[in-house]
Amino acid sequence: MRVAVAGGTGLVGRLVVDAARERGHDVVVLARSEGVDLTTGSGLAERLAGVDAVIDTTNQASQRRAQAEAFFGGVTRTLLAGGAAAGVGHHVVLSIVGIDDVDTGYYAGKRLQERVVAEGAVPWTVLRATQFHEFAEQVLGFARVGPFSVVPRMLTRPVAAREVAQALVELAAGAPVGRAPELAGPDRWQLVDLARRVSEARGLGRRVVPVRLPGAAGRAMRAGALTPSGDGPRGRVTFDEWLAER
Ligand SMILES: NC(=O)c1ccc[n+]([C@@H]2O[C@H](COP(=O)([O-])OP(=O)(O)OC[C@H]3O[C@@H](n4cnc5c(N)ncnc54)[C@H](OP(=O)(O)O)[C@@H]3O)[C@@H](O)[C@H]2O)c1
Repeated sequence: MRVAVAGGTGLVGRLVVDAARERGHDVVVLARSEGVDLTTGSGLAERLAGVDAVIDTTNQASQRRAQAEAFFGGVTRTLLAGGAAAGVGHHVVLSIVGIDDVDTGYYAGKRLQERVVAEGAVPWTVLRATQFHEFAEQVLGFARVGPFSVVPRMLTRPVAAREVAQALVELAAGAPVGRAPELAGPDRWQLVDLARRVSEARGLGRRVVPVRLPGAAGRAMRAGALTPSGDGPRGRVTFDEWLAER
């Protein structure tokens, strides 16, 4: 099978590329650093020739609603138009557990991405996953003042990005299913505890300052809205195993 990985140079996208190659698939990477800009579509048509499935792991960092919606909506429309023209049979998107219940600008962008895919012309699968184990390290850099890192109080059930990548490749090789069962890691954690553990294990010297994010979104995150409520596949790699590996 020929698979195009949009965002295949990113944190999880790189692991999708590895997982697809390990299974013997032919891989095409779609990213600006590979000559494809998915906000404009430049370079896309020629890369999609002969592609059976697209796996979208693109990302942008802004929390602003307008910017997040412009990126996730725009990139998705571009990929679907290119996919329909090239006869791509399956469009697979990585999304996030709980985005309907936590109204942030970033999640508004992810919700729009899912809607555009569901209304699009290419048969689709959306996999919602929880935060990656790597998120605990990223969050230490979001709001820093001297040695202090401000970390939101939130309940999470983190999963190894590697296992998310493997799940995306498996889904892409199967028939489109629409919304796939939500993927989460083996254990529930407070994000501030994960951030402290990662800082200690890596000798980063960050002092974690927990903060209660205001409003309904903050309350929902503390109450576990970003963890799955039903059954579904669970990753096996624990946070501590992941930490010890690196
Ligand atoms: N972090 C988490 O815990 C988590 C959990 C569940 C789901 N997710 C989802 O996983 C996805 C990937 O996240 P990530 O952290 O792995 O992303 P990332 O490391 O920030 O990588 C983003 C990728 O998107 C590409 N990209 C950005 N703008 C582009 C453009 N205009 N055209 C083409 N490619 C573009 C980048 O490559 P270039 O810079 O070369 O263009 C890069 O390959 C996101 O959709 C996120 O919502 C994340």
